[in-house]
Amino acid sequence: MKNPLIIALDFESAGRARELVDRLGDSVSFYKVGLELYAAAGMEFVKELIARGKDVFLDLKLYDIGETVKRTVAQLAATGVRFTTIHAVPQVMRAAVEGRGSSNLQLLAVTVLTSLDDRDLADMGYRYSVSELVALRVRQAMEAGVGGIVCSPLEVGAVRRIAGPGAVLVTPGVRSAGAGKGDQKRVATPAEALANGADYLVIGRQVTRAEDPAAEVRRILEEVQLPR
Ligand code: C5P
Repeated sequence: MKNPLIIALDFESAGRARELVDRLGDSVSFYKVGLELYAAAGMEFVKELIARGKDVFLDLKLYDIGETVKRTVAQLAATGVRFTTIHAVPQVMRAAVEGRGSSNLQLLAVTVLTSLDDRDLADMGYRYSVSELVALRVRQAMEAGVGGIVCSPLEVGAVRRIAGPGAVLVTPGVRSAGAGKGDQKRVATPAEALANGADYLVIGRQVTRAEDPAAEVRRILEEVQLPR
């Protein structure tokens, strides 16, 4: 069984991120670079991770006109980024699929940000509830050929039923029992998320803020019963 952990490098500098990657060594092979670190350290740091043999999930949540999305995704694919995110809007997704071409970049659709509730959607002019819009967008993502979805561990079962067995499902909002939740309200444990159908777990602060991050990774891998 493959290692399902993706550690989120939510740091303000390449130096801090590098320090964690050094400490985790071979126990982690997949890292997420989000907007903060991307703004601080850019593609240079992404390329450094790739050169070290790490897989990179560059979480850019793209949403722009088709031509821009297509050309940006083509650049990411050429650099060797493994996962990236786009908003689950049909035009954006179709452009991203074109940009990916035949590369092995896995696109992940972000359906509805978990910071939005039904009222926020109504304010934005949508006539759907969050769960209805998530379901619609999962179907549209699969139709567009995106093939991957980022979703909460609490909705991963429902998403799997719509997206089918071949979809790549990635869930943040995962915490071991007893670990601090931070600002996350809706969390599941790593084992629950995998049992509900997740392929990859994005874990940030439980590991990055731990006194001994490598020990924390070992604890999570034990919890999900993977050989270390
Ligand atoms: O909470 P934690 O530190 O584990 O967060 C890990 C990563 O998951 C962060 O980079 C965060 O942006 C991302 N994320 C999230 N919740 C969502 C979507 C993304 O925590 N609903």
